[in-house]
Amino acid sequence: MMLRAMTRADVDAVLAIEQAVQRFPWTRGNFADALNSGYLCSVDCGDDGSGEIRAYAILMPAADEAELLNIGVAQVEQRKGRGRAILAAMLDEARARNMRRVFLEARHSNLAAIALYRSAGFAEIGIRRDYYRNADGGEDALVMARELTGEPNG
Ligand SMILES: CC(C)(COP(=O)(O)OP(=O)(O)OC[C@H]1O[C@@H](n2cnc3c(N)ncnc32)[C@H](O)[C@@H]1OP(=O)(O)O)[C@@H](O)C(=O)NCCC(=O)NCCS
Repeated sequence: MMLRAMTRADVDAVLAIEQAVQRFPWTRGNFADALNSGYLCSVDCGDDGSGEIRAYAILMPAADEAELLNIGVAQVEQRKGRGRAILAAMLDEARARNMRRVFLEARHSNLAAIALYRSAGFAEIGIRRDYYRNADGGEDALVMARELTGEPNG
């Protein structure tokens, strides 16, 4: 994995992945807002030297906590450990910024994401009923959190 900060020039490539892999994708404006707001926006551009973006993640710092707002891995790159690796890198970055806790919300039906978060040490701390409003009705959000210690991977 080659991780670097996302720039405005990356938004087209990130958006293409987002639209292909997310059931309810972020818009171009959402990514622009995240960049303009100074959120931690990272891209994984692989290790073959092509620079092609394979994955991305966005973390919103707020005092000594951070919220993982988005994470996506290109379809053909899924199940190769990229999601786990970029998530671990975001946690390392949060720890380096002295954050104590990272939390996130996941759609109840998003079993792949929930399995990834559990395997990365996130625990369920609550449910927000009907948090997501879909055309086909509401969907609960699982709220998950992971405490950070000063130790790497801790
Ligand atoms: C969720 C997502 C980021 C995982 O990325 P990934 O690179 O495929 O995940 P990894 O290869 O690092 O897998 C790490 C662990 O997550 C779990 N996992 C990942 N995909 C899974 C799937 N389809 N089904 C079940 N568990 C899955 C497994 O525990 C896996 O470990 P294992 O491969 O040793 O069994 C990816 O599926 C994705 O981009 N989904 C669409 C976007 C999305 O839903 N984002 C989250 C909400 S914003």
